[in-house]
Amino acid sequence: MANNDETVIPLSSSDYYYDSYAHPSIHYEMLLDAPRTKTYRSYILSNPEIFKDATVLDVGSGTCILSMFCVMAGAKKVIAVDNSRICDLARNLVKDNGMSDKIEICQCKVEDLKLEENSVDIIISEWMGYFLLYENMLKSVIYARDRFLKQGGYVFPNRCVLYAFGFESEGRDRECGMWDDFEGLNFKRLGKMYSEEPEIDFVEVEKICTSCETIKRFDLMTLKMDQVSSFTARMKLSFSRASVLKAIGTYFEVGFTIGPKPIGFSTAPFVAQTHWKQTNFYLQKEGGIEGVKDDEVEVCWDVGVCEGNERDFEVNIECRWKESGAYSYKYVIN
Ligand SMILES: C[S@@+](CC[C@H](N)C(=O)[O-])C[C@H]1O[C@@H](n2cnc3c(N)ncnc32)[C@H](O)[C@@H]1O
Repeated sequence: MANNDETVIPLSSSDYYYDSYAHPSIHYEMLLDAPRTKTYRSYILSNPEIFKDATVLDVGSGTCILSMFCVMAGAKKVIAVDNSRICDLARNLVKDNGMSDKIEICQCKVEDLKLEENSVDIIISEWMGYFLLYENMLKSVIYARDRFLKQGGYVFPNRCVLYAFGFESEGRDRECGMWDDFEGLNFKRLGKMYSEEPEIDFVEVEKICTSCETIKRFDLMTLKMDQVSSFTARMKLSFSRASVLKAIGTYFEVGFTIGPKPIGFSTAPFVAQTHWKQTNFYLQKEGGIEGVKDDEVEVCWDVGVCEGNERDFEVNIECRWKESGAYSYKYVIN
């Protein structure tokens, strides 16, 4: 965009982020993700005693689907906040469903929302990204909780757990190497960037060769702001059979555990697929990690937001096995 003196005002990464949510296609994908959308719907509509007459804040409301479920469950008022231009469409969708008197849409960041402090009974949000934390929207939900939620109110979903497992795989390690000499040219830099990117894809269940273990649990009612954007965790993956571990896959579970009808969904490889797929970290180690049944690999996770773009995450994975096996690599989710 050019202003009067012809200087160009560059778009920030934040502008690009909210622009990406202005397109209907991204919302199609989310709405049609049945485990995701049906779990929210089922929880809200099966627990009317929680939602009836409540004032709800929908953080990152998008098409207002969650706001509308809350009205269906008897909410008195919903404040729907989203900083994307999707709000224009949402306003019409809300009108088409006769809910304009109950849902107030505010197009702004929740951090800039003008709303009385401690005034909402419930905060609902679908903030989860790849590797659970990518996009760092959890920070905005915790901000909203600390500012706007009444004493004794609820945040939904109220629990999330991030898991890891090891798997065998062919291919990606070779793909990284091929850039060393690409059509007679040195494209190593591209290969390095590729090796640092986790893959977002479905893992075939037969390829899983270790136990699945918890990386970290998140209780959204008690989580502190300084625990949102960085953490370290240690775990042991145990080989379930003799195999060569080539990559560490991750998935998460989301829980709505308050009230008479708790429910949840998972993004694991062994349940119905979701648009989050799995987030997979390929080991940049020739030959992978060989093991026999019950051998253990100790994995240390060091996770934090990237400097310069707080929506992206750096994930350092350190593995130790047998007496002297050691591996460490830094990945970037962007
Ligand atoms: C994953 S989408 C969920 C949309 C909708 N709630 C649903 O379930 O279909 C997240 C939305 O949150 C919005 N968002 C992210 N961070 C935000 C913030 N700090 N303030 C306001 N909106 C935000 C994005 O623009 C996006 O539309």
